[in-house]
Amino acid sequence: MAEIRFDGKVAIVTGAGGGLGRSHALLLAKRGAKVLVNDLGGAIDGSGKGTSAADKVVEEIRAAGGTAAANYDGVDTWEGAQALVKAALASFGRVDIVINNAGILRDVSFRKMTHEDWNQVLAVHVTGSMNVAKAAWETMREQNFGRIVNTSSAAGLYGNFGQANYSTAKLGVVGLTKTLAQEGAKNNILVNAIAPVAKSRMTETILPPETLAKLDPACVSSLVAYLVSDECTDSGQVFAVGGGYISKVAVVEGAGVRLEGADAHSPEAVRSQWAAISDLSRAKPYANALEAIGAALKSN
Ligand SMILES: NC(=O)c1ccc[n+]([C@@H]2O[C@H](COP(=O)([O-])OP(=O)(O)OC[C@H]3O[C@@H](n4cnc5c(N)ncnc54)[C@H](O)[C@@H]3O)[C@@H](O)[C@H]2O)c1
Repeated sequence: MAEIRFDGKVAIVTGAGGGLGRSHALLLAKRGAKVLVNDLGGAIDGSGKGTSAADKVVEEIRAAGGTAAANYDGVDTWEGAQALVKAALASFGRVDIVINNAGILRDVSFRKMTHEDWNQVLAVHVTGSMNVAKAAWETMREQNFGRIVNTSSAAGLYGNFGQANYSTAKLGVVGLTKTLAQEGAKNNILVNAIAPVAKSRMTETILPPETLAKLDPACVSSLVAYLVSDECTDSGQVFAVGGGYISKVAVVEGAGVRLEGADAHSPEAVRSQWAAISDLSRAKPYANALEAIGAALKSN
């Protein structure tokens, strides 16, 4: 079986100083990619910064015979994202792959959440993913090749108590993924998202040790590597992944009902059709918003 390789490719991995990002960077470098290891080096809540996290991963990659450079810019500012993409271009001459992985947590009940908690979490996850994709976009368009993987979360797909900011951000990442996939298609820029679960400093205090032991970040990196390889043709998709489990996740819409005439204006007609409205037995995903709206308008 031919090995999936990245020789000649340049990858940016954000937040690669630890956890999942480190694991993605190590795997891509092992398979021949030149890797820009970006990490702001701060605490889990986004406070502080430092150089040692990114430096250590670069050292690990070099010790294993790979090629990497460190970068300490924050993805949450446009200046930071531009600087990190420029650093990859300056070090390695191209950018083929972007893995938007940087993240922070400010978990708190909605009642107690501050606007600062909200703004910072959205800034890193949503604006940060957009910033780095945008800073690399023209390069990818010009070379007619690009692979982007964004990092969502089950908290975004399904909601999670105490994570109003984080779950909003993580579903925002899915919207970004789907639209960039559509806009990137004609230039062979494929954009997908993962909703991972893995052992890292983010989960160490939440999950029990016996569960964490089954959640090696490397199990997530194998999917990420496939998604950014030449062989993958999927785009705009979301995958749940962790501990060896991998599955496509979809937003689906049921067959629905059509209320005609006076019924279309009637709450009582909605009530009487509630079972059919709620029925997902014939649900299906749509490729884009126009297809979904078109199907809804001609349903039944
Ligand atoms: N571990 C899980 O089970 C899990 C589950 C769902 C989603 N995720 C997501 O996976 C990604 C990686 O998380 P992890 O679990 O490896 O945690 P982690 O804290 O080890 O990794 C996140 C990294 O991002 C860096 N970072 C934070 N803000 C940054 C910024 N502005 N610019 C650049 N780097 C920044 C941090 O310094 C850190 O090294 C995150 O986006 C997280 O939300 C993780």
